[in-house]
Amino acid sequence: MTTPQGGIFALGTASHAYLEFDAVAGEPATNLVEAVASLREPRTTMGGVNLVAGFRPELWRTVMPEDAPANLIGFNADLIGSGGYVMPATQHDAMMWISGSAYDVVFDIAREVIAVLKTLATVAEESSSWPYRHDRDLTGFIDGTENPTLIDAPAIALIPEGSPGAGGSILLVQKWSHDVTSWESLPVARQQQVIGRTKDESAELEDKAPESHVARTDQDRFGKIFRRNMPYGTVTDHGTMFVGFSADQERLRTMLESMAGVTEGVRDALTIYTKPLTGAYYFIPSTDMLRVVSGSSQQLS
Ligand code: HEM
Repeated sequence: MTTPQGGIFALGTASHAYLEFDAVAGEPATNLVEAVASLREPRTTMGGVNLVAGFRPELWRTVMPEDAPANLIGFNADLIGSGGYVMPATQHDAMMWISGSAYDVVFDIAREVIAVLKTLATVAEESSSWPYRHDRDLTGFIDGTENPTLIDAPAIALIPEGSPGAGGSILLVQKWSHDVTSWESLPVARQQQVIGRTKDESAELEDKAPESHVARTDQDRFGKIFRRNMPYGTVTDHGTMFVGFSADQERLRTMLESMAGVTEGVRDALTIYTKPLTGAYYFIPSTDMLRVVSGSSQQLS
């Protein structure tokens, strides 16, 4: 029985940092993977943090070919949708999602992680996130209504026992900037059509349009995923960190293609008001495999 990285399922934390790293040129891939794998969560229970570590799929495959899910690839090319719409590919080598009860501990651990990796990797992307009005994203809608419960989530997010990568997960991270002015100029009734759900209660609309967000990402069609989205940013520049886990990359990829209007030419109406700034896939190995790779472990304070 393999053990997943617990932070994937650790709901309710109030502060988050997402760090994406590029390996320093000339350093062997194994060194970065070993160093990231050897980072351990602090042992405290009070103010402790969760770390979720992931790797560019091709990098993980180089180091642990027997634990690499078949056909898993990075976000290596821009996704071109209908009418020339683009979701950019900004793949990096490793990612670290740090979450905790307050931003001070997340901040300190993030700095420590960066310092430990200093000779091997540079920070390519950094975002800090926090929950908004309990479970809403910055469109004001409840985000996560159709998420699986914590009982069902592992079967949806984790690669099953017996398959390469067992106990691991495939993560899609995309930073979406919101065009607040144009979104907030819409009447609530129109916003609801864009999402396909009501704003107050998140009830699914009977007559939702094919271009509504929930129609474009319908999990009955594409398969189920486990989302840990969070708002990010500042008062004047903010949006949604899309953080989606799945046992199968196909579900995430086909949802993105559907949102971009690749197959049917119907683009997700939400993409008129939000813009993806980044896009990357990471393999999130089981803790067992991190232990195999790391050899020694680096305890964070
Ligand atoms: C700006 C970015 C995004 C925002 C603000 C956003 C927001 C929302 C909201 C408000 C809902 C309805 C409530 C719920 O079930 O959670 C929803 C549903 C959903 N979203 Fe997103 N989302 C974003 C991007 C994405 C992306 C990039 C994907 C997939 C790759 C995605 C996948 C889903 C799925 C699977 C559902 C549930 C669909 C169903 O009813 O089966 N979302 N999202």
